[in-house]
Amino acid sequence: MADAGAEPLDPTLQDLLDHDSLKWIFVGGKGGVGKTTCSCSLAVQLAARRQNVLIISTDPAHNLSDAFKQKFTSAPTLVNGMTNLSAMEVDPQATQTDFSRVDDASSSSFLGDLVSSFPGIDEAMSFAEVMRQVQTMDYDCIVFDTAPTGHTLRLLQLPTTIQKGLDKLMSLRSMMGGALDQITAMMGVGGDAQGSILAKLDELKAVVEEVNTQFRDPDLTTFVCVCIPEFLSLYETERLVQELARNDIDTCNIIINQIIFDDAVVGSKLMRARIRMQQRYLDQFDDLYEDFHLVKLPLLEEELANKSS
Ligand SMILES: Nc1ncnc2c1ncn2[C@@H]1O[C@H](COP(=O)(O)OP(=O)(O)OP(=O)(O)O)[C@@H](O)[C@H]1O
Ligand SMILES: [Mg+2]
Repeated sequence: MADAGAEPLDPTLQDLLDHDSLKWIFVGGKGGVGKTTCSCSLAVQLAARRQNVLIISTDPAHNLSDAFKQKFTSAPTLVNGMTNLSAMEVDPQATQTDFSRVDDASSSSFLGDLVSSFPGIDEAMSFAEVMRQVQTMDYDCIVFDTAPTGHTLRLLQLPTTIQKGLDKLMSLRSMMGGALDQITAMMGVGGDAQGSILAKLDELKAVVEEVNTQFRDPDLTTFVCVCIPEFLSLYETERLVQELARNDIDTCNIIINQIIFDDAVVGSKLMRARIRMQQRYLDQFDDLYEDFHLVKLPLLEEELANKSS
């Protein structure tokens, strides 16, 4: 993998590398198309230009460790051989923001339960917690190696989900006014416990609002779609591109991976048929995405993850 990372990227990704203000780069697409390979390679290239780069895997089936042949955890760890590239693997669902931590078990439950009753809020809170941690660290560029599409879209919507949930909670709080205090007092929640839960919510709300604004700023955030020249992948890319547009998230780079180029084939009927099939979809990509940078990468003879470095 280290070898693969050192290969120069196709010139069209140069724009991405030269775009110095970019802080958040998401790499996503269908399962197995090459997201991890591309995001690791991109992170290595970025580290050559930027001060301090972090690559985060948000795929519960993490594979940064396999790609770099090094064990990573939920804390950033320097990638072997690099001085300014770190990696971490987080599971947004597992990093629970535990409201029971703010006070003893008996008093935490009422507000904690109220908070948890908002759909998706647990996952959203955990994501906010990861973002809060990352925001306090000294990285000027963060690359996300994401899980296959459905999960990634949910992740990108989390800041909005949490913001809506918190807004509801805050308006409930002001509507109920003193009544909420009385109820929580009856439930055994002391003023301190309630105050610290609310303070925690306020703090997370501030992080989430900040992240939400940053994700929607094309100077700070972009999404790189990775795909292969096949029907399902083309279809999924279109779904992803539309969903990103609906969420106001910039996307202008599509990496089409695993292309079989003519000169790689000597007299194989199967390969010639695959080339024709790929060409059909490559033409469709060209038609559909003329405003995008399309980066075309060859299918290599060997899988990259197992290439000895
Ligand atoms: N251009 C290529 N040529 C040959 N092998 C490749 C190429 N790109 C990726 N691979 C190999 O394909 C496999 C899948 O790649 P990778 O892990 O990057 O995909 P992914 O999209 O991250 O998968 P997942 O959805 O499981 O996370 C790996 O074994 C990788 O080495
Ligand atoms: Mg992967």
